[in-house]
Amino acid sequence: MRVVSGIQPTGNLHLGNYLGAIRNWVKMQDQGECLFFLADLHAISQPHVPAELTANTREMAAALIACGIDTDKSVLFNQTQVPAHSQMQWLLNGTARMGWLNRMTQWKDKAGKNREGASVALFTYPVLQAADVLLYQATHVPVGEDQKQHLELARDIAQKFNNDFGNGEAIFTLPEPIIPPEAARIMSLRDGTAKMSKSDPSDMSRINLTDDADTIMQKIRKAKTDPEPLPSEKDGLAGRPEAENLVGIYAALEGSNVDKVLAQFGGQGFGTFKPALGELMVSSLAPIAERFNALRQDVAAIDAALRKGATKAGALAAPTLDRTYAAMGLLR
Ligand code: TYM
Repeated sequence: MRVVSGIQPTGNLHLGNYLGAIRNWVKMQDQGECLFFLADLHAISQPHVPAELTANTREMAAALIACGIDTDKSVLFNQTQVPAHSQMQWLLNGTARMGWLNRMTQWKDKAGKNREGASVALFTYPVLQAADVLLYQATHVPVGEDQKQHLELARDIAQKFNNDFGNGEAIFTLPEPIIPPEAARIMSLRDGTAKMSKSDPSDMSRINLTDDADTIMQKIRKAKTDPEPLPSEKDGLAGRPEAENLVGIYAALEGSNVDKVLAQFGGQGFGTFKPALGELMVSSLAPIAERFNALRQDVAAIDAALRKGATKAGALAAPTLDRTYAAMGLLR
């Protein structure tokens, strides 16, 4: 089992990242060989401030370690320090089709109406993501639901490349997405139909892993809900996206499921449920925030950890990169 996943170092780690992906990364460290990276090359697909990208890359590394990524067990690095990612992307650009990329919902969402003005990097972003995982022969990729389509594209690219250049052999392994059942898609606290996201202008829409207890309690208290009490059965959440989201978050934090949470809180109003959710969240996140605040100060240690990870990742990537160049007939 070879586990590979990444996160963009833009802004803070939020509850969606944590429950949708990072918690699974931490668990999977004991199940296989893991590589986790800061997708700093992906972050340049949108306008960015250079000094902030540097700082965010270090902060995100510290946040991942605070969440439980162990740099002795897993390979933790940033893409930029492993040039094989960019090299592999270029090679796969020959295989990926314009039509496939045009269908990516994240491209459509992020480019919006201004496709002509979007960066080329935003369009080819999923090819870099395919390179990230195919480079390491990843078998499992723990992600939230929003990355599923990008992973399907990686499989399509791998399959076409194997057919076109494999000479009967598989150059690339087809990766499987690993998506958590209870937290595949954590929604905004202000709008149950929009994903919780770093790019939402309202900080009240998300829980950051660095929020203190008072901020968390306040954000939950102000979270949008409806006037009805919670139902006793899952079906009763239909058409109530905000209620469904909060119950899902509770279940994910508690490590249970929606049925169990509704068995406990069914019939009760948000006046009872919200404080219980806030307290569960504070007790789950406080130890992470504490570790993060201690780690983020030590820039030298973070840089050393990332260098160590990049050296290991580069060595693991080399054989597949060599084989890919060779399969395409590129003289090196
Ligand atoms: P990014 O940085 O947007 O998010 C990192 C991880 O967090 C998950 N996630 C969520 N899960 C549930 N609910 C949410 N509201 C939520 N928001 C984010 C994401 O699904 C993701 O798993 N393109 C990727 C980074 C990437 C990558 C890769 C991932 C680059 N190369 C290779 C896997 C494999 C991204 O922008 O994730």
